[in-house]
Amino acid sequence: MRKVLITALLLVLALGCCAHADDLRIGACIYRFNDAFMLRFRTAMAEEAGKAGAKIEFADGQDSQITQDEQIDKFIADGVSVLVVNPVDRMTSQNIIDKAKAANIPVVFINREPTPEMLASYERAYYVGAKAEESGTEAGELIAEYFKAHPEADKNKDGKIQFILLKGQNGHQDMILRSKFSVQAIKDAGFEPVELASAIANWDKLEAMKIMNGFVMSIGPEVIEAVIANNDEMALGAVEALKIVDYNMGNKDAYIPVVGVDANASALDAMDKGEMLGTVMNDADNQGISSVRLAVALASGKDTSTIGYPITDGKYIWIPYQKVTRGEKQ
Ligand code: BGC
Ligand code: CA
Repeated sequence: MRKVLITALLLVLALGCCAHADDLRIGACIYRFNDAFMLRFRTAMAEEAGKAGAKIEFADGQDSQITQDEQIDKFIADGVSVLVVNPVDRMTSQNIIDKAKAANIPVVFINREPTPEMLASYERAYYVGAKAEESGTEAGELIAEYFKAHPEADKNKDGKIQFILLKGQNGHQDMILRSKFSVQAIKDAGFEPVELASAIANWDKLEAMKIMNGFVMSIGPEVIEAVIANNDEMALGAVEALKIVDYNMGNKDAYIPVVGVDANASALDAMDKGEMLGTVMNDADNQGISSVRLAVALASGKDTSTIGYPITDGKYIWIPYQKVTRGEKQ
């Protein structure tokens, strides 16, 4: 009798406190499914959830914070164990944190960083991402390294680098900091950067192509010495626009170094063909895996120090960036 009671008690304790991996449900909100980098991220998350035996459901915010807020309400009402959120507008994350807190559900933000104050307002709120400034610095270094190796890239021989900047969605930390630090890295390498033009192309290839096409027509490809894009999709859009005027098609005399960020397969392909100079690897695999491991640990009451990724300042998992080039191909 006593044994039965103890067993029953242990069972209640075990089940009562936390979700087990096999009945653990992750509600994952993605700002927009139609994003090449977030597709890589989602794929890694789904795979890791499978390995952990956790259920994961993805919701497509379709680039609307209103839609995403509804999806969050629904996940909470459905009783998910934990939320993983890639906010549409990171500056409204406090609202999401308040909702998670009221429901006592842990929340792991990914890719779009809430402010430290927001994260501090809930002990079960975390962020998994990569340091935006690092990617900016590395992208700028790629351009500077190219100019050191190829003095002829300074077409007008003025010792300065005349560049075009294609920016991601307004307000995204990766848009703000990549833009700033890539230009800074060019300066730090001893070159004077001169911005010929810049525009927001919202991380999007087609938008970037149209914008770049306009710049090529108004400025002239022979005047442009470099293109810095906040991500690979926009870099590829720029490459498409350059190809229209027979640039970046393998002829060294008609080439403009273009850099992006992410290391998506299509960018690596373009680099192999000599159409694009380089990129900075945004490690979707490790961001996806670590965010799911953290979510599972939080929801099951497991020690977060066992997930294989260090947690900084009690709140952050930072995955490093890495420069990628194809050597002397260009
Ligand atoms: C990536 C972009 C992506 C964006 C989405 C960035 O970190 O570099 O490719 O569109 O995140 O939020
Ligand atoms: Ca120049």
